[in-house]
Amino acid sequence: MLAAGERAHWALLCLHAAVAVVLGAQSPSEPSNMSYVKVTVDKLLKGYDIRLRPDFGGPPVDVVMSIDISSIDMVSEVNMDYTITMYFQQSWRDKRLSYTGIPLNLTLDNRVADQLWVPDTYFINDKKSFVHGVTVKNRMIRLHPDGTVLYGLRITTTAACMMDLRRYPLDEQNCTLEIESYGYTTDDIEFYWQGGSSVTGVSNIELPQFSIIDYQTLSTKAVFATGSYPRLSLSFKLKRNIGYFILQTYMPSTLITILSWVSFWINYDASAARVALGITTVLTMTTINTHLRETLPKIPYVKAIDIYLMGCFVFVFLALLEYAFVNYIFFGRGPHLQKKKAEKAAKRNNEKQQRMDANKVQVDAHGNIHLASMDLRNEMSGVEMLGGLGGANTMFSYDSASIQYRKPLTGRDLYGRPTPSLERPIGQKKSRLRRRASQLRVKIPDLTDVNAIDKWSRVIFPITFTFFNLVYWLYYVH
Ligand SMILES: *[C@@H]1O[C@H](CO)[C@@H](O)[C@H](O)[C@H]1NC(C)=O
Ligand SMILES: *[C@@H]1O[C@H](CO)[C@@H](O)[C@H](O)[C@H]1NC(C)=O
Ligand SMILES: *[C@@H]1O[C@H](CO)[C@@H](O)[C@H](O)[C@H]1NC(C)=O
Repeated sequence: MLAAGERAHWALLCLHAAVAVVLGAQSPSEPSNMSYVKVTVDKLLKGYDIRLRPDFGGPPVDVVMSIDISSIDMVSEVNMDYTITMYFQQSWRDKRLSYTGIPLNLTLDNRVADQLWVPDTYFINDKKSFVHGVTVKNRMIRLHPDGTVLYGLRITTTAACMMDLRRYPLDEQNCTLEIESYGYTTDDIEFYWQGGSSVTGVSNIELPQFSIIDYQTLSTKAVFATGSYPRLSLSFKLKRNIGYFILQTYMPSTLITILSWVSFWINYDASAARVALGITTVLTMTTINTHLRETLPKIPYVKAIDIYLMGCFVFVFLALLEYAFVNYIFFGRGPHLQKKKAEKAAKRNNEKQQRMDANKVQVDAHGNIHLASMDLRNEMSGVEMLGGLGGANTMFSYDSASIQYRKPLTGRDLYGRPTPSLERPIGQKKSRLRRRASQLRVKIPDLTDVNAIDKWSRVIFPITFTFFNLVYWLYYVH
């Protein structure tokens, strides 16, 4: 037991000694290693001509690109662009930079990049781009023993993205980033997407208003008058998240439209309440519309949200018009006509009755009554008439007097002039009462008519609005 423990102790000691020897052997070689690298780098840069591309005069340089997206910061409909921050990496082989002796990849200070040839890549659709410069320029240059150069930049670029907002906010946009060589044609340079992982970080992108449902890389050639240039493009398919618009626009406008129907349940003669409700809802719809417009460019075509807001506006407006119609029917020309009709009917009744009475009287006493009516037409007062007739023919004169008193009534109706009357016989009062009653009778079914308009509106408006919603959402979401 004891011997075994001693052996183990010795073994441990030996191991310690061996590690010490290895470390001791390496630490003195470190400065020589560093000086060797220094010598190598000096050798590489000495006589390096930055003006000439690798393999000048030979086959085109193959530049392999990859993008690691850090974030998409903003998508702006007003400016029709989006802002993206990314790690943009290019890699090519420059035989002048190959080295032997150290099996290491040399990551050099970013300022060395100024002394080396780099591709003249640019973004076609960029509006404003910059390489981040805090704390130093965000640039990386790494050399490989075989002469491959890896050149990385951290770039934020605002790139144009023409959007078709016809289906806004139920739209999908296709935004691209176009990469091209500025000066070298395909004879000198070729661009490739790195196989496998050319674009990374897409799944980490968080956008408040969009989700990225797809992305694609493409390599083409762009032909200009000066030659054909290599072009790479990266495109994102952005789908707008409707949630925000449901809360901000669709829900309020739907509720406002429903609110405007409350008017149909309010009594038709509460005009203050109904008009106020109608106008408030119309104005609210206008406000929602205006607020929406502020965040959008002044595009000439109609957007999906415009159609919805327009629809709601029409419904709200029609609800207000419905009240105008009801009001018109009840207080306006409708009842006026009915009143006129009632008056006419009453007049006709009176005339008929009078004629009947006259006939009766004429049958009873010829000369007297004829005279009386003639006198009436000459605007003789009833009292005079009575006086003139008074005397011998007593019975008939009273009869004629009763007619005579009725006659001025029609006279007033015809000429619109009141005639003096002293005693009003009961018959006349009765007829007037009858006329009023008939007028009332005409009015009562009118009330139920107005209610019928409201009742129909209560059904028709919600059904039509539901149908409108159904058609709208089926058309725009599929
Ligand atoms: C330099 O150091 C590395 C380990 O860091 C070693 O592998 C290499 O052989 C050394 N090169 C020279 C020339 O000493
Ligand atoms: C140098 O870089 C290449 C490619 O990135 C890699 O495969 C290799 O392992 C690296 N060499 C060292 C010593 O790190
Ligand atoms: C975007 O549009 C371009 C050009 O029409 C097309 O080639 C590309 O495939 C589209 N991108 C996506 C992700 O659909």
